[in-house]
Amino acid sequence: MMTSKNTENNINKTSSNGNIPVIEIRSLKKYFPVQTGALSRIFSKDTDFVHAVDDINFSIDKGEIFCLVGESGCGKTTTARILAGLEPETSGEVFWNGKQISFDELKTTKGNVKTQIVFQNPYSSLSPRLRLGEAAQHPLVVHDKIEDKKTRETIKRAYYSEAGLVVSFVISIILFLTATIRKDDSSLWFIAFAFITLILGIGSYIWFGRIQKGKLTDDIIKSIFNLVGLAPPDQYYNKYPHEVSGGERQRVAIARSVVLNPKLLILDEPTSMLDVSLRAGILDLLLSIKDKFDMSILFITHDLATARHFGDRVGVMYAGKIIEIGAVDDLFNNPMHPYTKALMDAIPSPTPRDVEIQLPKGDVPDSINPPSGCRYYPRCKYAQEKCSSELPILRELKENHFVACYYPLTMVQ
Ligand SMILES: Nc1ncnc2c1ncn2[C@@H]1O[C@H](COP(=O)(O)OP(=O)(O)OP(=O)(O)O)[C@@H](O)[C@H]1O
Ligand SMILES: [Mg+2]
Repeated sequence: MMTSKNTENNINKTSSNGNIPVIEIRSLKKYFPVQTGALSRIFSKDTDFVHAVDDINFSIDKGEIFCLVGESGCGKTTTARILAGLEPETSGEVFWNGKQISFDELKTTKGNVKTQIVFQNPYSSLSPRLRLGEAAQHPLVVHDKIEDKKTRETIKRAYYSEAGLVVSFVISIILFLTATIRKDDSSLWFIAFAFITLILGIGSYIWFGRIQKGKLTDDIIKSIFNLVGLAPPDQYYNKYPHEVSGGERQRVAIARSVVLNPKLLILDEPTSMLDVSLRAGILDLLLSIKDKFDMSILFITHDLATARHFGDRVGVMYAGKIIEIGAVDDLFNNPMHPYTKALMDAIPSPTPRDVEIQLPKGDVPDSINPPSGCRYYPRCKYAQEKCSSELPILRELKENHFVACYYPLTMVQ
């Protein structure tokens, strides 16, 4: 019988290769208050919470691709958003290169770009009003990261000219109003000044703003566009998001995220809205830019086949908990948690004659009042008395293979 070598508290002390991980999460929780009607809020003292992420631990090594897999609603996106600094945590600790920081410090601010996230739907993450070149360039401008002085000045002028247009418009209106109120000899001068101000505003916008920004083919963006397969870059630079395909849009979203050189790139189902024929291309692209930019990747997917092809290690989530973590080959060849095994059995077979195995029947536990025991036990065919009352923690049952189960499969079989 196997014995546990480690406890949940020790899981993140070192990364899987013994080095300090780029990021380490300890006891992360995220509870969302449940929205109720005004009446129930008055009469009920307690607020209910959805336990979206409930005390999870994991770490990601430098240069590693860590996949987070699990059924819909298990807490993958919530975890991703917290790591990207887009969602505040309820509680937990985070270590960046071994040093404890606050979750707030994961937020991208000027001079601090630790993580960047790419979402499932590139349409919603790209502004329809920005040309693709501008969209990719925008983070560089905001974070003052453009090295070339001339380019930086031109872009600054372009943004100032936009503000100038608004200001000149407001001043012209004030001058016009003053002219109509005064109705004396000086009115003509006010009207003339109003026209001159407006023409100057529009002129500078056309010259520095619209045309210059449109013409700008910054070398960084060009090389990134080339890198993400948008070649020749000039052809894409001035297009709007609706003028390119879904795969190309996602490439722009990736370019936009890596342009700031984050050390952790978070990808939340980046290929699930793309045609199957485009997916492999995007995954290959991600592998090449990971090496080029020396990044680590948190890859979120509900597709185990993709995780197997793409990842180095996998964490399996179920109802807000991580129930198994292991190296891809180990986890796929030797899943120890009954849920992981069931997920793998449910991967559609490429051979049409094979019967597709479904996930076990039964309800996912109530996320507001989760059971005190193992969250998977109502669906688990190996469950015993203890599973319904005591919550199993992650234990290292094999080297770098952690499982939260009292009766892991190798022990049952
Ligand atoms: N802003 C929110 N307010 C309240 N509940 C939320 C919020 N965001 C997520 N949840 C809830 O938290 C749980 C986890 O959601 P999450 O989006 O993280 O799941 P997921 O694993 O990404 O699912 P999917 O595979 O469908 O994208 C769900 O029960 C969801 O309804
Ligand atoms: Mg999600």
